[in-house]
Amino acid sequence: MSKHAIALGGASLLLGVSLIATQAQTVAPTTPPDPPTFAAQGTPNFVGISDIQEFKALPEYHEPSWVTEKFVDTGKLPPVAERLPKEPLVYKASNMADGIGVYGDVMRHVIGGRPEGWNYSAGQSQGWGGIDIGLSECLTRTGPLFEVKADELAPMPNLAKSWDWSEDGHELTMHLIEGAKWSDGEPFTSDDVMFYWNDEVLDPNVTPLNGATPETFGEGTTLEALDDYTIKWTFKDVRPEQYLYQMAYGTFCPGPAHLLKPQHPKYSDNTYEQFKNAFPPEYMSMPTMGAWAPVTYRPDDIIVLRRNPYYWKVDDQGNQLPYLDELEYRLSTWADRDVQAVAGTGDFSNLEQAESYVEALKRSADPSAPARLAFGARTIGYTLYPNLSANGWGEPDERGQAVRELNRNLDFRQAVTSAIDRQSLGEALVKGPFTAIYPGGLYAGTTYYDKDSTVYYPFSLETAKEHLKAAGLEDTDGNGLVNFPAGTAGGGDVEITLLANSDYATDKNLVEGVVAQMERLGLRVIPNTLAGTQRDATEQSGKFDWTIRRNQSELITVVKNTVALAPTGPRISWHHRAGADDTLDLLPWEQEMVDVVNKFIATNDSEERIGLMKQYQKLYTENVNGIGLTQYPGALIINKRFANIPAGTPIFMFNWAEDNIIRERVFVPKDKQSDFELFPQTLPGAPGIGNGPVS
Ligand code: GLA
Repeated sequence: MSKHAIALGGASLLLGVSLIATQAQTVAPTTPPDPPTFAAQGTPNFVGISDIQEFKALPEYHEPSWVTEKFVDTGKLPPVAERLPKEPLVYKASNMADGIGVYGDVMRHVIGGRPEGWNYSAGQSQGWGGIDIGLSECLTRTGPLFEVKADELAPMPNLAKSWDWSEDGHELTMHLIEGAKWSDGEPFTSDDVMFYWNDEVLDPNVTPLNGATPETFGEGTTLEALDDYTIKWTFKDVRPEQYLYQMAYGTFCPGPAHLLKPQHPKYSDNTYEQFKNAFPPEYMSMPTMGAWAPVTYRPDDIIVLRRNPYYWKVDDQGNQLPYLDELEYRLSTWADRDVQAVAGTGDFSNLEQAESYVEALKRSADPSAPARLAFGARTIGYTLYPNLSANGWGEPDERGQAVRELNRNLDFRQAVTSAIDRQSLGEALVKGPFTAIYPGGLYAGTTYYDKDSTVYYPFSLETAKEHLKAAGLEDTDGNGLVNFPAGTAGGGDVEITLLANSDYATDKNLVEGVVAQMERLGLRVIPNTLAGTQRDATEQSGKFDWTIRRNQSELITVVKNTVALAPTGPRISWHHRAGADDTLDLLPWEQEMVDVVNKFIATNDSEERIGLMKQYQKLYTENVNGIGLTQYPGALIINKRFANIPAGTPIFMFNWAEDNIIRERVFVPKDKQSDFELFPQTLPGAPGIGNGPVS
């Protein structure tokens, strides 16, 4: 037995690789190497949620003087106190890095995505980069939790300002913010919440953008409205506090029912496609509960958002938020976001494409550089996912179906993972201590990670080839590529399509690396690199053999988006969904993963949870649920003129930095204010196509 096999103890027996491991030249699984040391540059100032915010009425309220003069004094808007809810969300100055702010200025974002339209809850993307995060206010909030003490970790109240559990723990009653209004002045009530639940989440013809399904909130869960400001959840489990995280971005952020409902097929003659497209990008001032509403859109150029005069959050001096009057979104490329933020022509970037790290670091080191750059922990990572549905999801042809069967074969997945040279894959992105070997599953360095429960198949082409043979694949025509067995897909070369996002250099580089490494193994991989929105739609509809995805929160935090750790519902997993009959065809170890995740959700006992996540990690990595590729840190780049950026803000954890920095509290001190606003002293106009900002 090799040293590695001993290190793993009894586990190797369970792996079913004993036959292969006896071959002298092959390598046995082990635990992954420790990532190179890379210290995060800032540490959060840890606090409790009640140190950050509370809900209460204040004796007086203020707004920018131009809003009073041009809108209130002229009778175009009611006074600010009447526009605010009974008890606004109040941010405490003691938790703001630079204290109470002043009004004015703009944050100039640059993004690589393009807006499909404003119907977020019916599945349309706005181009990412935090536009939808800003427009989506949700029952709870999780982005800022990166700075919440571990023993007080729980989702923050937001549209739901408080909640209580019934004695038996099955019912959760939530109290909505009372008297708050959409940006067009219409009341926000439980009607908005119930429309989202009944006609979007529960309607299988509607797919909200970030993938909410009924099971996202637990199988058999129901929701009802008790009155305008009270809703009641009923769960099968006892006190499943976990679902409070799902009620945050992006799975429980209701849209404006007063506009959406009349377009929904249940209440109109529209088709679902017409409903989805009823609010194209040209539609302006789409009502939002967020701090800014869109007022201008020029294709491939820009989206401008202006302050929402009905925003329902204030600082503890009673100043209505946001402090910033404008947000800009220039429609460019993601790489350009880094370049512009570093150069000072843009204001913000999540530095996440490792290819630009060295250059960005060099430029930001200059003391006169316009932006600060701060690295966080290794929370950016990529996984190659095999499509595990053999049940018709995505309607594969004969070749596609044959690949699905291969994907479901452990030896095949072991072959693929063993053929990945992660060291060189990482170094091809960036040299230095950034990238770490990532076998898959929970990230090293995160709360629930346990190295000893992580099974790593080290790079070994020899081992990989043995596994391929064990999976029944051989090169029968001598062209260097393995063939399907005679009788399957004509016995031709095994060809596998690899879906990826063409908007990012990193994704494309990883595709190139994987294609080359698979060729050495004898597998032909054909890239299908598509622009973001098309890629997402292709993945959602199951039309892929393999897909490369940048991982989401569940593999960092476990508690956020927990349901997505396994196929816990028919439409929840990224790479295993139900076919036309709405049932899953789970492999035994997948069923075990589902059981472990459901147990995690059902218990609030922290010791038990730690144990369950060790089991999860073992099941995931031993069975190669996904093929981890690389894991590395990201850096927040933000122009130095902005104040109230919390210390140690990660670019990604419970959410992206656009949420984590609490943009509505960010400001620019008077002496640093720019004249970059494109529509100074204007507000969003009436909702509609062609409408613009009004003064
Ligand atoms: C994109 C970007 C991320 C982040 C998110 C926010 O995915 O790549 O850095 O800005 O949008 O949704």
